Amino acid sequence: MIFTKDMKMADLIHKNYLLLSIISRFGILLGFGDKSVEEVCNEYKVNTYFFLEIVNSCSNENYFTDVQLKHFSIHSIVGYLRKTHKFYINQIVPEIQCLITNLYQNCFKQKENVKLLLNFFDEYKNELTIHVNREEDVVYPYVLNIEKAYETKKISDELFEQMKNYSISDYLNEHSNIEEKLLDLKNLIIKYLPPTADFKYRNKVLVKLFQLEKDVNDHSRIEEKVMAPKILNMEKSLLSHFSNDNQNSTDE
Ligand SMILES: [Fe+2]
Ligand SMILES: [Fe+2]
Repeated sequence: MIFTKDMKMADLIHKNYLLLSIISRFGILLGFGDKSVEEVCNEYKVNTYFFLEIVNSCSNENYFTDVQLKHFSIHSIVGYLRKTHKFYINQIVPEIQCLITNLYQNCFKQKENVKLLLNFFDEYKNELTIHVNREEDVVYPYVLNIEKAYETKKISDELFEQMKNYSISDYLNEHSNIEEKLLDLKNLIIKYLPPTADFKYRNKVLVKLFQLEKDVNDHSRIEEKVMAPKILNMEKSLLSHFSNDNQNSTDE
């Protein structure tokens, strides 16, 4: 199902409750009555079309083939990706950590197995933090600079030099799959944790891990299938434009 601007915002959540966290990332709070998507977006000063592209791509895996996030600026896309990073680091990861700690505290037999889970999740958290920091500190500033240069048709010497040594295709090659370890974590709980471990917390941890995995998958798809191709085109255009300029100035 494709969500549209005239649908009731509440119906989006009824159709896909995983959109709850995405809606809150846009700063939209619950309690919107029967207002439509467009009405709620206007009220919160959120671009309705960008909002729809995000909720649709997170609800239908094939939605990207129909294009449309490409029409939005890198600035908007990076803004959303940054909010998603915050959600991982400040919200869902601490929640999972807390649930595993509860699981550990409520487990009286074979505690060492749950300890293993705790350590394994710690490793995952470190890996995720390194991944996020690299994007926040290096990749996102770079793509924003590329977009600015592309739009203003002006490029600093520094960025021009940087482009010769680094391209968004390097990012695509180095972009690690941060979902993989989550599968191992889920299997650890589903298959290998002894049945004695508290099932209440165990199920809660598992549900959160599934949620994080789905979210990280959607996030990576936006980075790889929307942000990177857009930047690749801009880089090509900038390189050809400014290399010609350099060539012309040497010819003169
Ligand atoms: Fe990211
Ligand atoms: Fe990433």
